[in-house]
Formats: sequence, structure tokens, C-alpha cells
Amino acid sequence: MAVTNTGRVYGLRGRARECAVLDRMLAEVRSGHGRAVLVRGDAGVGKSALLDYVVGRSTGCGVARATGVESEMELPFAALHRLCLPMLALRDRLPVPQREALAVGFGYSAGGPPDRFLVGLAVLSLLAMASGDRPLVCVVDDAQWLDQGSAQALAFISRRLHAERIGVVFSIREPANGVAWQGLSELVVGGLAHEDARALLDSLVPGRLDERVRDRIVAETRGNPLALLELPRGLTAARIAGGFMRPDPRPEWSRIERSFAARAGSLPPPTRKVLLTAAAEPVGDVTVLLRATKLLDLSMSAVVPAEAAGLIELGLRVRFRHPLVRSAVYRAATPADRRDVHRALAAATDPATDPDRRAWHRAHGAAGADEPWPSFCGTRAN
Ligand SMILES: Nc1ncnc2c1ncn2[C@@H]1O[C@H](COP(=O)(O)OP(=O)(O)OP(=O)(O)O)[C@@H](O)[C@H]1O
Ligand SMILES: [Mg+2]
Repeated sequence: MAVTNTGRVYGLRGRARECAVLDRMLAEVRSGHGRAVLVRGDAGVGKSALLDYVVGRSTGCGVARATGVESEMELPFAALHRLCLPMLALRDRLPVPQREALAVGFGYSAGGPPDRFLVGLAVLSLLAMASGDRPLVCVVDDAQWLDQGSAQALAFISRRLHAERIGVVFSIREPANGVAWQGLSELVVGGLAHEDARALLDSLVPGRLDERVRDRIVAETRGNPLALLELPRGLTAARIAGGFMRPDPRPEWSRIERSFAARAGSLPPPTRKVLLTAAAEPVGDVTVLLRATKLLDLSMSAVVPAEAAGLIELGLRVRFRHPLVRSAVYRAATPADRRDVHRALAAATDPATDPDRRAWHRAHGAAGADEPWPSFCGTRAN
């Protein structure tokens, strides 16, 4: 069945299926059949963007939002409190036991740890009251960082919505554990489809990008929108054409790059050299890689430890686990080793079909060429 892509209006590439699932949920909520959906996926895959989509589509509904915050995980009910803030005035209408449990939970009254069941019930009652005039949509981002009390209360509520005009949408980053969420309906979000990822990359890169380099980047990022967005930041098409990702300024990403470099560094020298050759070859052409390794007197079987370490995959094309693996491997190498592999790659590249790329490798194989991120002369500016 063809689905209209409403996500585009909200700045989303692709995601027709995901938007259709969320639209269906909103339609059910509006008709009095409340539901909860758990949006799961890797970092940067676009979970928060889908939650924003839900908010954008919630016209005529009340919206309450909360976000799990890593530093607040030890603060009981911190996220739940934020979610309920806009409707706390209604708490006076709660039955006394619920009102008291909520007051203790949110720190308005002193007392020992409140009964979790009563806190859940109190929040469900509050949400039900808030949805009296118009449906209510609750959006909870980064549920992996919810404090335990909030997570339990929200999971409790999510299983009791069927007769309410209330929808709850959570996002949770993989790898996610926690039994609280078991049994909720899930929307698993993966990378963008190839065409959508290509279109996103094209829209970000000034100038025209070599098609094979573009395909390789799309494959290595596995369509992860954050990786695609980060890659070309501040770079020209010529620079990106090397296929290298700049080290990301955010500490977590440089940490990732460092950890990839450490993993690659612990491999045997011939394996590292094959990896470097693959990293220096921007299009992932297996034939060229095979020829180049031969010229370097290396056996392709040297790549096996790198495959076993999950750093690279050799199929019809060469695919690094992540663009940061490529940049980490390339940058960790000595200038002499880099020149060496570029010379081999130049010799392995067909001068008839790929003269530009051959010249590019030759330039980077020449003495004195030790740029950490080579640019490729084969790209054309628009
Ligand atoms: N379908 C899409 N089309 C275009 N851009 C997108 C799409 N999905 C996400 N993005 C962009 O990619 C970036 C990462 O998305 P987002 O923040 O939603 O990821 P996330 O899954 O919430 O990540 P995290 O696990 O770190 O919270 C954002 O800049 C977002 O605007
Ligand atoms: Mg997010």
C-alpha cells in the first residue's frame, strides 16, 4: 500500500512508514482509544525527530513533554514531575490517597517512599482530567535515562490507556534494557533508506559528490541521519570525496574514534596495512583493493582479524563499520605508510576508466604529500 509521506512537511527525509504508524496512533487517541508507542533505535537515527513529528501532528490536542536526563537518574520521579507540571493545578481533585502519594513523590510533602502503584494511578488520573476537554499527547524522549520511579509509573500508565483520549510516545536509545517497557507496542527505527540517505547527503554537500564515494558514505553510515549530517559540516565536496569524516568535536564521538584507533592499533602489522589501504581507497572497490594489496606484498587473508574485530566487512564492496573507523585508521598511520598505500592504489587503478582517481592517488603517494585528509580532484563543483 502506498503511503503519503507527511514527514517531509516536518523536515524529515523518508520515514513514510514510521509517520504512518504514528499518525494511526494519533487517530486512535482522538477517537478515544488511547495507546502508547515506544520508538527504539540507535543514537542519531532520528527518534527525537519523530517525536517532534508527533508534536507537530498533534493539532487540537494538549501536549505534555518530558525527557530523561542522565544526571537526574537518581532523582526519584524527576521526569514524571516535569511531565505533570502543566497539569499540577488539577491535583486537588485527586482522591486523597493518590494526592498524598503524589505530593510525597514530587517532594511537596515529607514522608517515606510513596506507594508506586498509587503514584502511577495519581498520574493517570491527572492525565485523564487533563484530557477532558481535548485529547492529550505525552511525549517522553530519552526514556533510557528516566529515573526508575518515573519509568515504572509511565510504564504502568501506558498499559491502562485503552479507554482514554491519551497517547504516550517514548523514545529509547539502543541498546536499551529495562523490563519496564516490555509489552508496549514498538516502532523500531533503522537508518534511512538508501535513496533518502543519498538525497539527504546531496542536500548537505556543496558541489557535486562522486557517486561512488556518496554510495560508500551512505553504506558506512547505514543511513544514520546524524552521521550523514555531521560528515559534511564545513567541508567542501572535494574534501568529502576522500570519504573521510572529520573528527567530531563532541567528546563522545572523539572517544569513539579513539577507541576504533586503539582496536585497529592492536591488530598485526599486515592487517593494519590492509586496513590502511582500504581506508585510503574512497569508493570501496574490492578489485582495486585486491590489486593494491598484492602490489604491497600483502595477502588479503591478513584482513581476517580486522573483520573478526568488527572494523570492516568485505563483500561486493569494502565497508567500514563506521566512517570514523576509516578516519581513525588513516590518521593513525605514518605519512610514509599513507604514501606507500596511495602509490599502490594508483598503480592498481585503471588509467582508462578512472584517470582522475589514479592521478589523485599518485598525488597523495608523492613525497611531501602528507595531508591528513586528502581531497579528491575528481569531483566537480556545480
Ligand atoms: N528523517 C530525517 N530526515 C532528515 N534529518 C533527520 C531525519 N531524522 C533525523 N534527522 C536529523 O538527524 C539528527 C539526529 O536525529 P535525532 O536527534 O532525532 O536522533 P536520535 O535518534 O534522537 O538520537 P539520540 O539517540 O542521540 O537522541 C537531527 O539533527 C535530526 O534533525
Ligand atoms: Mg534523541
